Amino acid sequence: MHTTHRPTRRLMLGAAVALAAPAVWRSALAQGRLRPTPSQTEGPFYPVALPADSDGDLLVQGSRRYAKGHAAQLEGTLTDTEGRALAGGVVEIWQCDAQGHYHHPGDGGRADADFQGFGRVTVGADGSYRFRTIRPAPYSGRTPHIHLKVRLGSRELLTTQVYVQGDPGNARDFLWQRLRGEDRTALTVAFEPAGDALRARFPIVVAA
Ligand SMILES: [Fe+2]
Repeated sequence: MHTTHRPTRRLMLGAAVALAAPAVWRSALAQGRLRPTPSQTEGPFYPVALPADSDGDLLVQGSRRYAKGHAAQLEGTLTDTEGRALAGGVVEIWQCDAQGHYHHPGDGGRADADFQGFGRVTVGADGSYRFRTIRPAPYSGRTPHIHLKVRLGSRELLTTQVYVQGDPGNARDFLWQRLRGEDRTALTVAFEPAGDALRARFPIVVAA
């Protein structure tokens, strides 16, 4: 009797779990379906003073135009781990100019004045963001990358770096080398021709 009793008990337990399942699933969803975008170090060149023009177009500041390097659009969506748009979230990027210089005293103030170097956009209800900038350029010791930070109100939700898929410098870069598996895949994006510019899609997922 013992042998038939056990499966019955198991079935009963199974039924109890099945009844509780919707709650279990909701709980799993609350913990997140999407993998958060991995973080990386901020590095030493976050602006000490933001440029007067800090919008999402890093190639135009008033009457100034930056035409060096290769124009590129960096775009994507900012969502939480359930895929919901993080409306009101702020995405910031900063990067060096085509010659490899940052607008930062630590880099000797040598960056091209025509390059905005920093941009900030607030995400709307659809969660999308877009920057107009250049394909990142290499500088001493680093493979091309764009620094990125996400804020929501006074909270910093993410600081990371975005890399160029297929760039020969990646394999020699100490920070890119440290990335493994899905982390490396998440932070390394294709810059593909789109008209006269390049386009890169970088989805950002944060645990909000
Ligand atoms: Fe950097």
